Amino acid sequence: MKGLVLSGGKGTRLRPITYTSAKQLVPVANKPVLFRVIEAIRDAGIEDIGIVIGDTGNEIRNAVGNGRRWGVRINYIPQEAPLGLAHAVKISHDFLGDDRFVMFLGDNCIQGGISPLIEQFGSSDYNAQIVLKQVGDPQQFGVAEIDEEGRIIQLVEKPREPRSDLALVGIYMFDQTVWNAVEAIRPSARGELEITDAIQWLITNGCKVHPYIHEGWWIDTGKKGDMLEANRLVLDEMEPSIAGYVDRDSHLIGKVIIERGAEVINSTIRGPAIIGEHTRIVNAYIGPFTSIYHHCLVEESEIEHSIVLESSSIRELPHRLEDSLIGRNVDVGRSPFKPKAYRLMLGDNSSVGVL
Ligand code: DAU
Repeated sequence: MKGLVLSGGKGTRLRPITYTSAKQLVPVANKPVLFRVIEAIRDAGIEDIGIVIGDTGNEIRNAVGNGRRWGVRINYIPQEAPLGLAHAVKISHDFLGDDRFVMFLGDNCIQGGISPLIEQFGSSDYNAQIVLKQVGDPQQFGVAEIDEEGRIIQLVEKPREPRSDLALVGIYMFDQTVWNAVEAIRPSARGELEITDAIQWLITNGCKVHPYIHEGWWIDTGKKGDMLEANRLVLDEMEPSIAGYVDRDSHLIGKVIIERGAEVINSTIRGPAIIGEHTRIVNAYIGPFTSIYHHCLVEESEIEHSIVLESSSIRELPHRLEDSLIGRNVDVGRSPFKPKAYRLMLGDNSSVGVL
């Protein structure tokens, strides 16, 4: 079996972070979501993985490389524009051939991996297998209606009035019948070739599509709140470890991970939290559910339930930072200049809450 990861698209909901970089590379617990996807596919025993890329393709190629570090082979499949998930499948036909394959959206984060799913699909005669999860806001997703025996009646992409609370998770398995489906469908109202419509076509045309209900957590990391929630869930499952330096005046409470080359000086870290490589925490407090990525500085400040990307610094803040997603090379600090004022340089679509 082969793997197909979708990592094109626009990422409009994570702006301004995604003006300058790919949303799939935003880290959750200090590891990009896309790397977690690759690892999940690798752990299910798949070694050939195609990654569909768009405008942020170069950045993704630089971050992922040829896959050797995970023991897999990566092929890049450029998509001219984000014309839909089924379009991404269509342009990957040469890479996938007529093998069965698993497709995984590069911004989805799922508990427990996909090995059981792949095993189940591999040993079945299903033409396709989809993953469903009960959610509170089904209108944001593809939605499946199933009957009492658990058979799919209908799939609808982002319905205004959902007929069930079962969302389509961004993990799909197909055999070669999908090629007829992606050829047959037409663009949706939002102008995309929808994978949901392709799967509906399989059902209408008598193919066996098996729904697998996922019991663990699942997050589509499209928005800031989703990123923070994924960060919380992943951190909660990690084991504590200390590979960096922690001085005698510091206190680590609960599950804390200090990565290689990091330094913690006269600070308190209450886990679950992770401090990235070569990051310095000085006279600071890091609260639960916080991930500080590599080469950052947090000094004379308090932060919790937040994600900070690489090479950023947070200094001398008079109040605690919470529920925040801070981008790369960002400097948040106190200004020595008079008059006392907020002095900001924020990207388009930024959002700041002050006291
Ligand atoms: O996350 C699950 C949902 O994913 C499903 O419930 C929906 O049925 C499915 O349509 C999809 O909805 P989204 O609106 O969340 O998809 P999004 O546009 O965010 O794209 C998902 C991933 O695929 C993302 O990593 C970008 C990539 N992509 C997207 C498009 C439209 C591509 O690589 N090429 C594309 O043309």
